[in-house]
Amino acid sequence: MALHGINDKDLRDIDGEDISADKPVLITKSPVMLELYRQIKLVARTGTTVLITGENGTGKEIFANLLHYHSKRKEHPMITVNCGAIPNELVESELLGHEKGAFTGADYKKIGCFEMADEGVLFLDEIGEMSLSAQVKLLRVVEKGTFRRVGGKEEVDVDVMLISATNKILSDQVEAGSFREDLYYRLNIIELYVPPLRHRKDDIPLLIDYYTNHYCDKHDLEQVAFDKKTMEILINYDWPGNVRELKNMVERCMVLLGDENNISPDMLPKSISRTGSIFPVGHEEMSNGLLHIPVGVSLDQIEESVIKQTLRSVDNNKTEAAKLLGCARKTLHNKLEKYGSDGQE
Ligand SMILES: Nc1ncnc2c1ncn2[C@@H]1O[C@H](COP(=O)(O)OP(=O)(O)OP(=O)(O)O)[C@@H](O)[C@H]1O
Ligand SMILES: [Mg+2]
Repeated sequence: MALHGINDKDLRDIDGEDISADKPVLITKSPVMLELYRQIKLVARTGTTVLITGENGTGKEIFANLLHYHSKRKEHPMITVNCGAIPNELVESELLGHEKGAFTGADYKKIGCFEMADEGVLFLDEIGEMSLSAQVKLLRVVEKGTFRRVGGKEEVDVDVMLISATNKILSDQVEAGSFREDLYYRLNIIELYVPPLRHRKDDIPLLIDYYTNHYCDKHDLEQVAFDKKTMEILINYDWPGNVRELKNMVERCMVLLGDENNISPDMLPKSISRTGSIFPVGHEEMSNGLLHIPVGVSLDQIEESVIKQTLRSVDNNKTEAAKLLGCARKTLHNKLEKYGSDGQE
């Protein structure tokens, strides 16, 4: 299958290099993502501190891995810390390590993540989840460039490229007082924002092809395809869980497929297939003037559906429909054009 990803089933990737097992797979043809990838390669050369932002499942971790991959630090480790998962009282010893006997239970000397990442990359994932007290400790290391292990006297000097990631809007957290402003500026020397999948819809079929292929191989299945109608639904869907949700959806479809080799809309999870299904209550055309709108439908889809049903209710009289909708006839016309419809269905 011909894919246009950065790594794909072809022998060379978008960099024109042979595919190697250790290179993170990034599938995209979105100009914004390709520009992001170009910046990643530039930033990686310098080792500058980077903050990667974006919604859940957009690919922040892939970009962190690509930064490491393209950096001079590639031969040294990338250590990942999930800042949300470390209990507050352990943050300091987790990041900085501790000496033997530093506290009850410290039976041996422990090297912290900063030291483990020496000459490599320290990836602070979910940085927005870090408590304020842990932020103070991190700030001290980031500012001084050195630290002492818990219970230690000697200053430890490390050379680390810092990458942080968050799905939170850190500037809002700064305003709300839950994230330190000084730390925010220290971590945010370069911000790389990964856009959600719904803002790069061209990537949807590409990713579906890639993961269909991937899971066909993994589960030893025959060639499988999503039919046209299903693909339309998937392209229209908003993907709140982004690529992770898409990837899981593809695997689920593959596993539940049975002997079929064609995926139709009824095989999609309800949360996805119902988004295209706003309909008049009772299914009878405007039987009681009510629309049934399931949870999970986007505002754009709701607007489109309300406009179309209103038009139907007045036999496509646009002047009348605009009056009912409380907008100018021209506005209605523009919206219908946006939906690729003149209201005649
Ligand atoms: N462009 C892409 N091409 C191929 N796979 C992708 C792409 N983007 C994301 N994925 C896959 O989707 C999943 C989620 O990606 P990743 O973990 O990088 O997201 P994230 O932004 O770090 O999410 P979270 O905020 O939840 O931690 C991973 O399995 C990853 O391999
Ligand atoms: Mg992540």
